[in-house]
Amino acid sequence: MHLLHTLPELRAALAGQRETAFVPTMGNLHAGHIALVEQIKVLGRPVVASIFVNPLQFGVGEDFQRYPRTLAADCEQLDAAGCDLVFAPDGHEMYPEPQTFQVQPPIASELCGAFRPGHFSGVATVVLKLFNMVQPAVAIFGKKDYQQLFILKGLVRQFNLPIRVLEAETTRAADGLALSSRNGYLSAAEREEAPRLVRLLREVAARIAAGERDYAGIEQVASNDLAAHGWRVDYFSVRAQANLLAPAPETRDLVILAAARLGATRLIDNIEVRVA
Ligand code: PAF
Repeated sequence: MHLLHTLPELRAALAGQRETAFVPTMGNLHAGHIALVEQIKVLGRPVVASIFVNPLQFGVGEDFQRYPRTLAADCEQLDAAGCDLVFAPDGHEMYPEPQTFQVQPPIASELCGAFRPGHFSGVATVVLKLFNMVQPAVAIFGKKDYQQLFILKGLVRQFNLPIRVLEAETTRAADGLALSSRNGYLSAAEREEAPRLVRLLREVAARIAAGERDYAGIEQVASNDLAAHGWRVDYFSVRAQANLLAPAPETRDLVILAAARLGATRLIDNIEVRVA
């Protein structure tokens, strides 16, 4: 496996070939990232992963400084998973000019965007740049970051990028907690409490599947339950899969999304549900 840090090195290594399969990451890899590599590797294309902690997608007071940088351990895991090339640029390689063009995605102020202003603009900008640098044929993202995936599919569609986007199911711990690089911030007590989020999502999904339609009421009860157990809830929201907006009464394909904080750690998760 090759580890490259600059765009000229990357371009030379890829030599214009546009048949690669791409896994963008911010490093601090866990089994969820490795599942992305394994899923895309099945296509039989050379696999490129990127590792870049993108300052543009962190807001003021967020964890950009303390986000774990674990390049050597990440490369070991990627190598073992069959990744062919890792691109790990530094901040100057990614953003060489002091003033940066930024993509402004739709629905960037909804859901997580309402609590993390500028976050999705930062994500869409760096992914567009990474796509232009790597020029892959296919890329993969996890469904845990559901709104991110939705925005990135829109980015590819609306900018006519010749890239197929694959979606991967969320990888979970045995108790259901969605794997996340930020789970490492949880104390032992918080880690024990954390699966309440997925349990509630599953309960709410079951109630909706069984016919409940008072989405506002369901959201309120779930938010109260989290708050009663020490969470600070950003949102717990039933949305339409098609546009991530509030569903119409006849909308069948729904997704329930939640973001809430346990101590200093913000966790997100979601579950899709189809109304009969
Ligand atoms: O999901 C992530 O790890 C990041 O948001 C991404 C897509 C690599 C962009 O920095």
